Order: sequence, then structure tokens, then C-alpha cells
Amino acid sequence: MILPGSSSQALAATLATECDEPLAVAEYRRFPDGELLVSAPALAGEGEGREADVRPVDIDGGRAVVVASTVTSDAHVELLQLQDAAREAGADEVVTVVPYMGYARQDKAFRPGQPASARAVARAISAEADRVVLVNPHEPSVADFFDVPCEAVDAASRLAEPLPDDLDEPLFLSPDAGAISIAETVRDAYGDGDTDYFEKARDYDTGEIEISPSGAPVEGRDVVLVDDIIATGSTMSESIGVLRDRGAANVYVTCVHPLLASNARTKLERAGIRALYGTDTIERDVSAVSVAPAIAAHL
Ligand code: R5P
Repeated sequence: MILPGSSSQALAATLATECDEPLAVAEYRRFPDGELLVSAPALAGEGEGREADVRPVDIDGGRAVVVASTVTSDAHVELLQLQDAAREAGADEVVTVVPYMGYARQDKAFRPGQPASARAVARAISAEADRVVLVNPHEPSVADFFDVPCEAVDAASRLAEPLPDDLDEPLFLSPDAGAISIAETVRDAYGDGDTDYFEKARDYDTGEIEISPSGAPVEGRDVVLVDDIIATGSTMSESIGVLRDRGAANVYVTCVHPLLASNARTKLERAGIRALYGTDTIERDVSAVSVAPAIAAHL
């Protein structure tokens, strides 16, 4: 049985179809003091009217698959509650799928006194999970923070699907060295083109990004910028600016996790792009492809 967090309802439904598992209709409530209460009281499509809404899920020795991107701190609490609700309903095995794992970029104490936030949330999730499935975590080593078996699914190849078939001398470019393997995966799935990466420096205090271009020729070429995540959009908008200055023809922007916080969309549109899209690890209007098939292969 699939139990969705509120931030991953569409992906959970696609996954339920992909795996031919029932989909629970979770209920998301907030108390007046701001606390959350997430429960999974009814099976989708079962019963009628109000009665169906109060029928408890009976997993009875079976498997529960909790699917929840921890895109906010609330979503993280929801995930923990869903795991506990699954146990309450008799689940023998709880598999927790975290399509986008929040806090994963704070994977060490960058300054004295800071936490390794990724380790803290991984340990909390581990308490009620039998195993965990992540999708393209920022650093693969994040999987080691879990106290239970954890697999990282690579869904990057799906990012080739929405691209036009007739890109002109395509260059698949990552804005820093860390994402070059994702750019290579997308190029391989597309079946044509070169790969390269920029060098990136971020000022820790101001968040300002400085991009140093590579030597790859871009003039007149179609460039596909590929990253694992777009958060504030600063990395991508600076990269687009460099490509525009150097005469790139069309710039396509794609990522696994389209977080798109605050004014990221505006920054990208103003920088001048042909298209922007990502996957449904974070459900946005740019989520053009689903990672459900890649996750299903690991369930
Ligand atoms: C960093 O190493 C990541 O791969 C992304 O480049 C980064 O998280 C994007 O952040 P932003 O959109 O805020 O520049």
C-alpha cells in the first residue's frame, strides 16, 4: 500500500499505478497551534460518503510504501507521522521513498558549531523505516547517514525525454563539476552531443554565485544546462548569462529537483531560456517527467 505525503500526491499515484499497489487517501490536518496530524484512514475508491473517510487502513502484516518529498520542515514531520501510522495499521515492512530529501545539502558542518543536518533527518527517518529509497541525493554519501539500508535511484536519464529531437550541435553542460555525471547521463539518454562543466564559487555569507566558463565552444549551439537541483535559481541564471554572452543559440534548463524557491522562476525567465523543466520529485508546473518508473524498479 502506498501512503503519500501531501507534497508527493501525484507522484505517489503514478507509483501506485506503476507498481499495481493500492493507494491510501491520506488526510492532512493542522491543529490551531500549528501542529500537524497526518493519517491514512481510507483506501482510494473504497466505500462511499463519509463512512469511507473513517475506515481505518488495515495493512495487516503487509508492506507500506511511504512516499514523501521533504520539501519543507512540515513535510518532514508528515513523513515521520506516516511511517508511524503505517506501523499502527499493522505494516510489517515500511519502505520510505524520499523523492527529494530536504536538508541533504547540509551534509556536514561547514562551520564550527553547525550540525550535519542531513545526518540528523536521516536518523529520524531510519527509526521507523525498514529501508529507504532516495532519488538523486545531492551527494551519494548521504545514503550512508541512514541506519537502515538506503538506495539512491538515478532518474536523470528521464530528463532527455522532453528535449526536441533536432537540437543543433547540442552541448550538455553542468554549472559545476559536481553535476557533470548528471549531464553525461542526460546526453547519453539523448544520444547525441558533447558534455562539459563550468566552475562555480558561492560566497557562503551572501549566497552570490561566480561562474567561470569552460573552454567549450558554445556560439550558435543549443545548450542544455543540467543540475541536480534549482533552488534560488542563482546558479542557473548566472550560467545562462555566461552562455548568452558567448553566443549560445538556445538554452534549455533542466534539473532533477525543481525546487524553484522564491523568485527563481523570474530570474530564469529574465536570463533568457528556451525551456525549463524537471521531474516530479518536487511537484511543480515544470515537472514534465515522472521518476515513478525509476523508483518502481527499486521497490
Ligand atoms: C549545488 O552544488 C547544487 O548542485 C545546485 O547547483 C545548487 O543547489 C543550486 O542552488 P541555487 O539554485 O540556489 O543556485
